[in-house]
Amino acid sequence: MNNLSEYITNNKNKFVNELIELLKIPSISADSAYKNDVLKTAEAVKARLEEAGCDCVELCKTDGHPIVYGEKIIDAKLPTVLVYGHYDVQPADPIDLWTSPPFEPVIKQTDLHPEGAIFARGACDDKGQMYMHVKALEFMTSTNQLPCNVKFMIEGEEEVGSVNLATFVKNNHEKLKNDVILISDTGMIAKDVPSITTGLRGLSYVEVEVTGPNRDLHSGLYGGAVANPINILTKMIASLHDENNHITIPDFYDNVEDLSQDERKQMAKAPFDLERYKSALKIQDVYGESGYTTNERNSIRPTLDVNGIWGGYTGEGAKTVIASKAYAKISMRLVPNQDWKEITKLFQTHFENIAPKAVTVKVTPHHGGQGYVTPIDSIGYQAASKAYEDTFGKTPIPQRSGGSIPIVSLFEQELQSKTILMGFGLDSDAIHSPNEHFGIWNYLKGIETIPMFYKHFAAMHN
Ligand code: BES
Ligand code: MN
Ligand code: MN
Repeated sequence: MNNLSEYITNNKNKFVNELIELLKIPSISADSAYKNDVLKTAEAVKARLEEAGCDCVELCKTDGHPIVYGEKIIDAKLPTVLVYGHYDVQPADPIDLWTSPPFEPVIKQTDLHPEGAIFARGACDDKGQMYMHVKALEFMTSTNQLPCNVKFMIEGEEEVGSVNLATFVKNNHEKLKNDVILISDTGMIAKDVPSITTGLRGLSYVEVEVTGPNRDLHSGLYGGAVANPINILTKMIASLHDENNHITIPDFYDNVEDLSQDERKQMAKAPFDLERYKSALKIQDVYGESGYTTNERNSIRPTLDVNGIWGGYTGEGAKTVIASKAYAKISMRLVPNQDWKEITKLFQTHFENIAPKAVTVKVTPHHGGQGYVTPIDSIGYQAASKAYEDTFGKTPIPQRSGGSIPIVSLFEQELQSKTILMGFGLDSDAIHSPNEHFGIWNYLKGIETIPMFYKHFAAMHN
């Protein structure tokens, strides 16, 4: 497109500063104390979309945080791209581990980002990546080069399961009608190894509660004679994997698709350096399901992980006590064809079955969603591939990710359209962790690559 790289060079500081303003608002969707900040962020996104040339921008009320919707329809006969992103962020804790406050963005250099990276919660996931689309639109509208229609739908509840967005999508088929959905909320392999995410894992998230005696007990007077819920819970959790790190829940693997040797060979071609992987995490060895490589373990295979576990006395010093209750939060990452609601039921039944009579068990399902895979022969994928060729000078590698964006499979089901995942983050950007950051190089590269997608998609769509 004309003047694209010039536009980016000239506006670089403005793009960075605008993102920094957005990152200052703590839009933590999970914590009701931040409700007003979440709303403020939605209003800021609305204003930015209007400035970028979007028409009829509105905040769509939901039972939770609002959805920002806007569109630029230039000709009903032209194809329409629906851009999805989220303006909410994960909680910032553990706050002590941040080297600068999570909502006071600063630019710092890192080994991978010598040009500087913006450090703040949401810098990469997903405010930074979402905002690339706003700036790409601004470029195309202000230079009269928008080649098709665009709709923006930016939600505020992705990090808490997108429950209200699901309802919104179901009720607004006509409004959201599109030819392809475009999302930047994933990553790429490396700055010199562009990749397009072709798969996302599904998710089933549950909370368990194990109850023993009706009150906390003296661990001397009662210890050995009654079930300790924490002992029992940890034993039950340990039994969920066998010695090969297979998950032991009956029927759990029934619908897991087995990739052919050929597909696995293709996957193994993606550049991956195990030694570097280990040293980046300061671990002596990796760990996972026998028979699969690290890349397979975190993309095409399902997993079960405890995300949190608590109970009993965790304060200073010692207290001799057998707690009445123990708790854990458990996530299962699922692969295509595993139905998350079915898996949730299988978990529940199994967990209740393995509990000894001495305790009672309660399983509470949280959110979940289906996995997703997208073919690489669609117009959308091909347009994205060409866009990366234009800006990276290399054909991107298709790669399945281990993360989840549950709403993507619902988009396909409700809107019958494919999603193209053009992510520009790096694994080392520490999303959901302390010191989350987004490289300025990646940010600008995204702004540069997105308009090329529009160009190719509109041209190929005819
Ligand atoms: N953007 C992430 C998902 C992601 C990150 C996918 C990197 C692929 C690569 C998203 O915001 C996220 O965190 N999703 C949650 C699920 C959600 C239901 C809370 C996840 O994957 O844990
Ligand atoms: Mn995200
Ligand atoms: Mn996230």
